[in-house]
Amino acid sequence: MTNAILNNGWEIIQGQSIENENLIKIAKTYGVPFPDSNQQLIQKLNSKNKKTGIKNSFSYNYGLSAFPYHTDTAFDNTPANYFLLTSLYNSKTTTNIIDSHSIINNLNNEEIKILKKSIFLLSTPQEKKFTNLIFVKNKKTGIRFDPNIMTPYNSYSKDALAILNEQITKTKTIEIKWNKEQILIVDNWRCIHSRSNVIDEKRTLKRIYIK
Ligand SMILES: [Fe+2]
Repeated sequence: MTNAILNNGWEIIQGQSIENENLIKIAKTYGVPFPDSNQQLIQKLNSKNKKTGIKNSFSYNYGLSAFPYHTDTAFDNTPANYFLLTSLYNSKTTTNIIDSHSIINNLNNEEIKILKKSIFLLSTPQEKKFTNLIFVKNKKTGIRFDPNIMTPYNSYSKDALAILNEQITKTKTIEIKWNKEQILIVDNWRCIHSRSNVIDEKRTLKRIYIK
């Protein structure tokens, strides 16, 4: 683990090979890489038009438009702790990151209490379950947020969503422009991320989940 990821919640590594073998080697320095639900250890992400691909995925719902801020694998009991992302091509379509520590710093005690007490209904084709926005695991506090699959359930959660959405518009965003041979590692418990609208057609990313 590096100081950059501990201090900022994300890190860029430049000038490295983005061949699969090297990506896995780098991923292993942050934890244990694990496959997605399609058994892909290294996932290839292509931009897709709306209403294509997996139903209710971000691509299905938003197509080439911007994706809203979210946590990856929010549906898992424990979301992926980190993910690695790299781009096969230079791309003007940015990956955007917000550090939840910046959000928390902007909130008063009452607002933090609302976030902690909020309960959301998380629905996927496989299951429906209740979940919190904030979780604690291995003495680390994490945020779980995916507006695609999480809807407010109790009264706190409606207010929590309003607070979070307000903070998303206010809080400093880190915009990652993609160059070749650039590898991004994100602490997925600490940061939420989004994608700008796709302005170049040739956008292909590789992603590895890490626990
Ligand atoms: Fe994502």
